[in-house]
Amino acid sequence: MTETGTVLITGPTRNLGRHTALAMAARPQDRRPDLLLVGRSGPELTAVADEARARGARVHEIGCDLSRLADVRAAAATVRNLLATGAVRPLRALIANAGIMSNDTRQASPDGYETTFAVNHLAHAQLIGDLLDTFTAPARIVLLGSNTYHANVWRKLLNVAEAEWADPVELARPAPAERTPDMTTSGVAYSNAKLAILYYAHELQRHVDAGIHVSVFEPGWMPGTALGRGAPAAVQAVGRALGRLPGVSTPQRSGPLLAAIALDDTWAHLRDGAFVVKTRQTEVRPIAHDRDRERRVWAATAELLEHAGAHR
Ligand SMILES: NC(=O)c1ccc[n+]([C@@H]2O[C@H](COP(=O)([O-])OP(=O)(O)OC[C@H]3O[C@@H](n4cnc5c(N)ncnc54)[C@H](OP(=O)(O)O)[C@@H]3O)[C@@H](O)[C@H]2O)c1
Repeated sequence: MTETGTVLITGPTRNLGRHTALAMAARPQDRRPDLLLVGRSGPELTAVADEARARGARVHEIGCDLSRLADVRAAAATVRNLLATGAVRPLRALIANAGIMSNDTRQASPDGYETTFAVNHLAHAQLIGDLLDTFTAPARIVLLGSNTYHANVWRKLLNVAEAEWADPVELARPAPAERTPDMTTSGVAYSNAKLAILYYAHELQRHVDAGIHVSVFEPGWMPGTALGRGAPAAVQAVGRALGRLPGVSTPQRSGPLLAAIALDDTWAHLRDGAFVVKTRQTEVRPIAHDRDRERRVWAATAELLEHAGAHR
């Protein structure tokens, strides 16, 4: 097991994030991390924090709307303060779990960016960038990927199309007002954000201190979670039905697997954006390894975050 310290997780209020947080909280005392729960303020955040405390964990709730970069910066400042004052143990892992698939790619975040790209990628890049010098090695950064970045029969059942890559500045731009929202466009935006995360993960490893390891987790298809909450009711109903099939992933099953990626010795070797599908380290498709795109994601992300900062 890695040194026990503090783990930050985003999106702990439901489904995968919630079950991951609770799995970490339920560990034996000598292997139980302090938890920083970064999510939208409200009864759900308080409820998961209380449940984790009831399992024995020391927990801090950090209210943050990840679609708002000012909120993300404030959350990072809170984390830095907790670490600096010794209110929590050293930061050993960050799990960038929160995600959305917006059903209307015309929607802009308060910073002016397409919401799916803003929450899945930009918010986490901001948070990680603001916290990079606060990790204590050995430490892990775990990002959330999705097999939807490439053609994928199962996900197509729910209309989640594969990525159609474009420059990240384009991916961050909301669709024009005249574009009629449809599920294919939403699916492409989601898959593009997840492909951007793979490129970012590969590049991030080149920028962090030795002893900080970057990996990407794919929890398996978990139909029926709130990720598809914007989808038509019929599609959501199919998702819920498929979710009951044996062998299909669920947040209850994948949460403990994600906790293990962040904490267990078995996974200490993961680095360079290694991709783990549930319990299996998997080679990503050739499209997900591209030095030019990786460098461009890094540079464009910095530009986008800086530009948003200029409007604070
Ligand atoms: N479901 C799948 O089949 C699947 C497959 C592969 C990868 N994944 C990835 O796994 C992760 C978790 O997915 P899930 O299925 O558990 O999704 P989910 O049920 O929709 O939960 C998403 C979490 O992210 C949070 N979140 C979304 N927007 C936020 C915002 N603006 N600010 C703060 N928090 C926000 C949600 O908070 P609220 O409760 O406040 O909305 C919630 O806690 C995502 O990154 C997803 O892309 C999922």
